[in-house]
Order: sequence, then C-alpha cells, then structure tokens
Amino acid sequence: MTRHLLDVDDLSGPELNEVLALGTATDPRPVLAGRGAALVFEKPSNRTRNSTEMAVVALGGHPIYLRREEVDIDGRESAEDVARTLALYHSVIAARVYDHRVLQRMADSVSIPVVNLLSDHSHPLQAIADLLTIKAEFGDVEGRTVAWVGDYSNVARSLAKAAAMVGMGVRFACPAGYQPGTADLEVFESLGAPEVISTSDPGEAVDGTHVVVTDAWYSMGQEEEAAHRRPIFEPYRVDDDLMGLAAGDAIFMHCLPAHRGEEVTNSVLDGARSRVWPEAANRFNAARAAIEWLVGQANLPGIGNR
Ligand code: CP
Ligand code: NVA
Repeated sequence: MTRHLLDVDDLSGPELNEVLALGTATDPRPVLAGRGAALVFEKPSNRTRNSTEMAVVALGGHPIYLRREEVDIDGRESAEDVARTLALYHSVIAARVYDHRVLQRMADSVSIPVVNLLSDHSHPLQAIADLLTIKAEFGDVEGRTVAWVGDYSNVARSLAKAAAMVGMGVRFACPAGYQPGTADLEVFESLGAPEVISTSDPGEAVDGTHVVVTDAWYSMGQEEEAAHRRPIFEPYRVDDDLMGLAAGDAIFMHCLPAHRGEEVTNSVLDGARSRVWPEAANRFNAARAAIEWLVGQANLPGIGNR
C-alpha cells in the first residue's frame, strides 16, 4: 500500500526515526532520477517551496511548481482528478492546501506518495525539521520538554505529535478559545509524551522547559481575524523575560515567517538562544529525508509504463 505523509503520525515511531536518520545523512540516494514531483501551492510559501524543490533536485528528480490558479483544485476539476492527472507524469505529489480533506481525497485517488506541505490541520515537514533541530542541539531528547506559546496552530499540532513520538513532554500556553482540544491532548499522550500540559499561563508552560516555540497569532487564511486576535494574544508574546523562565540551555524556535514584535520580540528572534535559521535550513533536510523514505516504500510504476 502506498504510504503518504499527511501528518507526522502517519509514520510509526521507528519509521520517524528512520526519516530523522536520513535527514542527517549526507549521501541522499537518487531515488527520483528521471522522475517528476508535482508541488501544488494554494497558499504562498518561501521555505516550503524552495526547500522541497531543492530536495527533489537532490534526489535526482525534477520539481514542477503549480500555483493555485493553474490547477484550481475543485474549481477547474476535482481534487481527485487533479491528483490522478499528476500521478500520470510524476512520482510524488506534494501540496499546500487550505482544507486538509482535499489532501486526503488526493491521497485516496493515487498510488504514488502524497505529501502535505501545510494544511489547516498539520505541517509534518516542519515538525520533522523541528525535531532535526532539537536533536542537533540536545542529542538525546527523551524526557525534555517543548513549550508552545500562542496560537494552537497546524504547526503546533504536528510538532507536538512529533515531540511526543520521540519521548518529549509537550506543554501549551494558549488563550482560551485557541487551545488544543481534549482529543488532541489524548493523542499526544497516546503517542508517548511523558508530560502533557495545557494552560493559559505562559510562565507555567515555559518554566524549566528546553524548547520554546511560537507561531503567528493568525495563520494564512485568518488574516481578517488579525485585529480581533491581537489584544487576545498580547500576553503570549515571547520576550526575554519569558525566555528567562526556561532552562538555562533552552532554545527558541519559530517556523517562520515571523511577525516581528507580535508573537516574538526581535531580541529573542535574533538572540543567542534562537535556532530559527538552522530550523529553516532543516526544512531541506526534512523534505529530502521524507521524500526519500516515502519513495523507498513505494512500488512506483516504471517510467513510460503508465
Ligand atoms: N515555515 C514555512 O512553512 O514557511 P513558508 O510558509 O515560507 O513555506
Ligand atoms: N500557522 C502558519 C504557519 C506558516 C508556515 C500558517 O498556517 O499560516
């Protein structure tokens, strides 16, 4: 059966470790030699588009970037027919979509891997890049904790799952109405998190933690909520005082793009504890590793044989 990566827990714990190992390897196999990868973006991107395109190149393949208006999923033709068409020419489909169910429908329609490049629900390649960054910093991460401050976003969900899968505790400090639900907290426990805390108090979540993470207060597609959200999230800005409550060796991470002065101060983002640039660099390693692993699992049709 074809394996897809719609969220990080589509992988088992051991499989996630295999992907992480590929992410630190310096000898990617040319598993996409002579093959294409279709990269569909319904939303803007800097890191994801560039890191995934270059990952496909590193694996010997040819990426084709498709903008929303070119394929117009469920407008010009259905998500299923878009995916079936792309699978005739490509060996991987990767997509950034507004509605996660679109990705699921695409995955259900084809027998080549489908990779989530960010949906309203999850951002698995970001989570894998984040784990690569955390492991590069601390080595053995089991028993350490990640504190998420701000909006419980797509990025938060995937990172918490990934952290739980490698034995890290997860803590959330989010305002009421923007917190993880009980079902998600139970998922993190079932995936192996030794500690799961959800609070509205940033100081409680950050106290003694090893990794402090935040994201924009409003995600792509939520821009019209910005004015409403800003005063609600004001107490959740990551600043030097908040970082001072974390462990002495704690690091700060952010998937970027950052809204400087909103969810994080310049002094934290550009400060000694910030790992946002190694984190962004690891987006390439994560994409390369995940696609190499998925293609390695797949029984792809031969070139000229579809
Ligand atoms: N972190 C991330 O996904 O960045 P882009 O939106 O620029 O791809
Ligand atoms: N939560 C953000 C992440 C951007 C990489 C968004 O969805 O816009």
